[in-house]
Amino acid sequence: TFQDVPRAPPDVIFNLTATYKADTFEKKVNLGVGAYRDDNGKPWVLPVVKKAEREIINDPELDHEYLPITGLPSFKEASIKLILGADNPAIKEKRVVAAQTISGTGANHLGALFLSRFYRKGSIVYVSNPTWANHKPIFNNVGFETRDYAYYDPKTIGLDIGGMLDSLENAPEGSIILLHACAHNPTGVDPTQEQWKAIADVMEKKKHFPFFDCAYQGFASGDLDRDAWAVRYFVERGFELLVCQSYAKNFGLYGQRAGCLTFVLRDSETAPKVDSQLAKLQRAEISNPPAHGARIVSLVLNDPALFEEWVENLKTMSFRIQEMRRRLYVNLTELDTPGTWNHITDQIGMFSFTGLKPHQVKLIKEKYHVYLTDNGRISMAGLSSKNVEYFAKAVDDVVRN
Ligand code: LMR
Repeated sequence: TFQDVPRAPPDVIFNLTATYKADTFEKKVNLGVGAYRDDNGKPWVLPVVKKAEREIINDPELDHEYLPITGLPSFKEASIKLILGADNPAIKEKRVVAAQTISGTGANHLGALFLSRFYRKGSIVYVSNPTWANHKPIFNNVGFETRDYAYYDPKTIGLDIGGMLDSLENAPEGSIILLHACAHNPTGVDPTQEQWKAIADVMEKKKHFPFFDCAYQGFASGDLDRDAWAVRYFVERGFELLVCQSYAKNFGLYGQRAGCLTFVLRDSETAPKVDSQLAKLQRAEISNPPAHGARIVSLVLNDPALFEEWVENLKTMSFRIQEMRRRLYVNLTELDTPGTWNHITDQIGMFSFTGLKPHQVKLIKEKYHVYLTDNGRISMAGLSSKNVEYFAKAVDDVVRN
């Protein structure tokens, strides 16, 4: 029956992890998947997560019953407050609804699925060029056509704001625009607040729908409010929008799949309607979301002392990454590597778009066993005090080649 099924290509990001693991070279470096590592290159379980987890497991009342279809209520409420700010008027006005999802991917999927049913038919989804490798497949899977909007300028290794505004201006009215809330994946290039305002102006004029993906709140800058600024600004401007939250990076809960999809609606009458449809869609897809990760997040977000500790843990991660950016920059500058490298320290978050060309990526993989995606993206978290110099020398060599 299935003899004619064509073989699908492996996932570009996860395949790198597999190839890296199979490599026996001692100095190999994995800069592929966006997962935090400590200075010894090891996964880091946040101390606050360990503490919360212990408390949950030791609770004699703990059971493994189903969560409600749209998830753990205390988790959803805390997630809404985290992204919108606890005193956001939209919350008081009861025009915000949320569903707990299978991390950020699940939030993107449920959001896309909902729009495919209830947003105007024939709408096109615009994603930044480039974007996270999974964005287009997620939208295509529920039947959306996706197109690119200009974003990254290879000449400046920065944001092509003119091109971006033109793309948004020329998109059919009412298009769905996928925006990275902070720490753009894969480039690490974010709009400034002034640029966000110009983006909002065009989107308002063209009645586009903002679809925010927020996978790095607090992880990007160490400041939860700063990283949520763009989303809150759009809410303040009166947009109806949705936002996807992931707790993979900022809680280090990669495998627990804890995420949230939040809708900010125009009025409170719409809220229960959207809520009911989210529940209906979710029931048919996953019945109800997994409990463990959501319990950890909920406990930490709702307990002031644990929350404070979490913020410290976030700073540990984001500051280590900033330090690696600085050291990589210093190393390349000392080597007098051809080109400019200030983008390494200008960019923000988990990733850096190095500007390495595909043939240089190929060479660095073959000669130095350094693993990164073909577009030249590196996961900054894969660098440490032990390998940053090795990596800089490798970059220097392939750039001169
Ligand atoms: C990445 O871009 O490397 C991460 O977001 C992991 C993933 O799911 O692709």
